[in-house]
Amino acid sequence: MRMGVDYYPEHWDRSLWEQDAKLMQETGVSLIRVAEFAWSRLEPTEGRYDFTWLDDAIDTFAKRGIQVVIGTPTCTPPNWLVNAYPDVLPRDEKLHPRYPGIRGHRCYNSPSMRHYSALIVEKLALHYANNPAVIGWQTDNEFSLNECNCEHCNARFRTWLQEKYDSIEAINAAWGTVVWSGEYSDWSQITTPLGGMNYKNPSFVLDYKRFETDSLVEFQQLQLNILKKHCPNHFITHNIWSYPMALDYYKLCENLDFVSLDYYPSTNPEKAESSGYSGALTLDLTRGIKRQNFWIMETISGPPGCWMPMWRTPHPGFIRAFAWQSIARGADTLVHFRWRSAPSGAEQFWHGLIDHSNVPGRRFEEYRGLCGEVRKLAPLLEGTEVRGEVAILHSHDQYNAFQIQYQVDGMDYFDNLKTIHRAFTKLGIVTDVLNESDDLSGYKLIVAPSLFLLDPELASRLETCVQNGAMLVLTPRTGVKNLNNVCWIQPLPGPLSNAAGVTVAEYDPIGRDVHHFSWRNKTYSCSQWCDILTPQTAESVAWYEDDFFAGKTAATVHKFGEGEVCYLGTVPEEAFYVDFIQDAAVKLGLQFISDLPEGVQISTRVKGSTRYLFLMNLTRKEQIVTLDRVYYSLLNEREIGQVLTMAPYAIEIVELPMKST
Ligand code: GAL
Ligand code: ZN
Repeated sequence: MRMGVDYYPEHWDRSLWEQDAKLMQETGVSLIRVAEFAWSRLEPTEGRYDFTWLDDAIDTFAKRGIQVVIGTPTCTPPNWLVNAYPDVLPRDEKLHPRYPGIRGHRCYNSPSMRHYSALIVEKLALHYANNPAVIGWQTDNEFSLNECNCEHCNARFRTWLQEKYDSIEAINAAWGTVVWSGEYSDWSQITTPLGGMNYKNPSFVLDYKRFETDSLVEFQQLQLNILKKHCPNHFITHNIWSYPMALDYYKLCENLDFVSLDYYPSTNPEKAESSGYSGALTLDLTRGIKRQNFWIMETISGPPGCWMPMWRTPHPGFIRAFAWQSIARGADTLVHFRWRSAPSGAEQFWHGLIDHSNVPGRRFEEYRGLCGEVRKLAPLLEGTEVRGEVAILHSHDQYNAFQIQYQVDGMDYFDNLKTIHRAFTKLGIVTDVLNESDDLSGYKLIVAPSLFLLDPELASRLETCVQNGAMLVLTPRTGVKNLNNVCWIQPLPGPLSNAAGVTVAEYDPIGRDVHHFSWRNKTYSCSQWCDILTPQTAESVAWYEDDFFAGKTAATVHKFGEGEVCYLGTVPEEAFYVDFIQDAAVKLGLQFISDLPEGVQISTRVKGSTRYLFLMNLTRKEQIVTLDRVYYSLLNEREIGQVLTMAPYAIEIVELPMKST
């Protein structure tokens, strides 16, 4: 467990390197990430490589005991490359090239882009394979899809489809192109989206999204092959941007050693509280990608800006608290973005730990304190992991399918996932947020929000979990379509109707209207969607209170094998989820805390029978938390009372007593 910073030697006069290295060493920084945008300095003109400046920089830092992660610079193709080989640039729907403005101007299928990327990565790999200060690599920077329509993408899209479908007839059948005479009679008629109407065949668009992910994965794989070959002792990671994302992170990260996340919780007071909860989800999602601990490769150091009007400066305690939140949810190393604010370029006001003044100030002192704390607790936390008791399912395919076809005003796949996750977080229940294709055995509670695309294979895996004793929670828009994004011709929830013991007789997409339903003699509000349910073998447990379907079933429970399936036919307010989850937790024997104050979060890291509890006040307010007994605070080295007053952004870490089994 260590602390690092993102450092750009090429932005600074050399005279600053030694000064910076010295201050880093004194502060407890033992790692820098460098070079991920430095192509024009590493290869100033075609074939002329110059790594001497980077060697010198690495040496300067290595002398101070600071190790290095090198980012491959392929996010920023230099001007000479773009100029000589214009196929590097992605083409928009009018086939106009997307010119270099800032960065990310590259087509993943461009032969020149692939060729020159492979060359620079290979040169770097050979050059740094045996440099003792270099420990690993970051591929590129924050990959995302770029919807390129160039000739290479078109050609590759067609071969991708040929590999998937074999024949043109098979595509026509899978996509249902018969509607509106969309049938293809020759491969050449199939192109990338190329603009036109928004309302395209959803099966085509979903496959195009999958193709885009695969193109990017292939682009990255070229780099992985080179790095693995020449640098077998180095790790390889990638820094993912936040969620939601069209790009399939599960595929992107499959061949990496671990995932890294760039985490920028909002500092604006009106968002600060909700951002602690969505942050918790982002961290749980990140841990779920490879089901292991991860790194934070960038995180907040000062007021962010330039891409938008500047946010507020991190309130005292904010930088430290959100760093501990990341560790609490599975981060093993924290790299702060960035050491010092950039003096030039498009991002001058996305502030670093040190301002342009080069005078370390309040934020830096907070960071220095954090480094000391991490160093102190690292020996205890080393090797500990977060193990959620509950699984929440997520998938980029579902997200994309909902993006392609908005179901109703106000319905957002990811926002609904957030609400569910937030309810768990408010109860202090840590969740593993997993890809729906993951092995789910062992979880007592599985929440599967809107499995819009559902094939019999996933349905049967979920059925098996339930038969073996799990409780499965389903929500509206489940089992609507097959994986080709084509509707099932059968009652909803499609392939899960049998396990759920219920069918949807009719639905009303109520959008932003607010309706009500009753559950356990309490009334809750709901919106977006109302499935009017007909229990088959399930039992009704909630009833609508409004409209023509007042009195009809809104939710059911169905005993199935050793477990049960709950079908929620509507999108309830958060308060319902909190009550519902609490009820399920009691039934399933999951631990929870019913009176955690708003904005206070907990998490646990475990190793064998040792368990560390993190208690975090992620708000600007003082908060009072009631604990089950007196604990010793490992961070603050004092006893903390059962009724604990937490200052704004206070963090406590305690060792829990051994679990009595
Ligand atoms: C990240 C990116 C960094 C920097 C930072 C602040 O998305 O990886 O290079 O731009 O945001 O905006
Ligand atoms: Zn392209």
